Amino acid sequence: MTAPAAPTPFVRLGGESGVRTLVDRFYDLMDLEPAYAGIRAMHPGTLDGSRDKLFWFLCGWLGGPDLYVQRHGHPRLRARHLPYAIGIAERDQWMACMMQAMHEQAIDEALAQRLTESFFGTADWMRNR
Ligand code: HEM
Repeated sequence: MTAPAAPTPFVRLGGESGVRTLVDRFYDLMDLEPAYAGIRAMHPGTLDGSRDKLFWFLCGWLGGPDLYVQRHGHPRLRARHLPYAIGIAERDQWMACMMQAMHEQAIDEALAQRLTESFFGTADWMRNR
């Protein structure tokens, strides 16, 4: 007998539909909130492609299906962010936007805490200034 595996963050978020809801809210907020205007300006005029790419990436990153890798191969995330000047201010805007999106989705407190730490590690790694 083996103990059942603990559910992944992907499952705890509600699978693909939960991740999609989070990503859509994240980019809606980036579009709406003046506090995130700095990072919004780095993105293309329409956010449709950004939404899809972050959704595909996060599904795999959270322990679900590797939708990004299936479409684009290895994410090379840091290299893909090099064209954008990302310093502490940009990292913190990205984090605040994601934390607001998680909060509005009423994600379980312990899960939100864990995801905040993981997001921070990745966002900080993206800094190139
Ligand atoms: C630290 C602050 C960050 C800034 C300012 C930033 C900004 C951007 C920008 C401007 C793009 C291009 C969007 C597009 O081509 O549509 C992008 C792409 C992307 N970002 Fe970030 N990002 C940050 C952090 C993160 C983090 C923490 C993650 C993951 C947890 C992430 C995941 C992605 C992914 C998957 C893409 C698409 C890559 C591709 O296939 O081109 N980003 N980001």
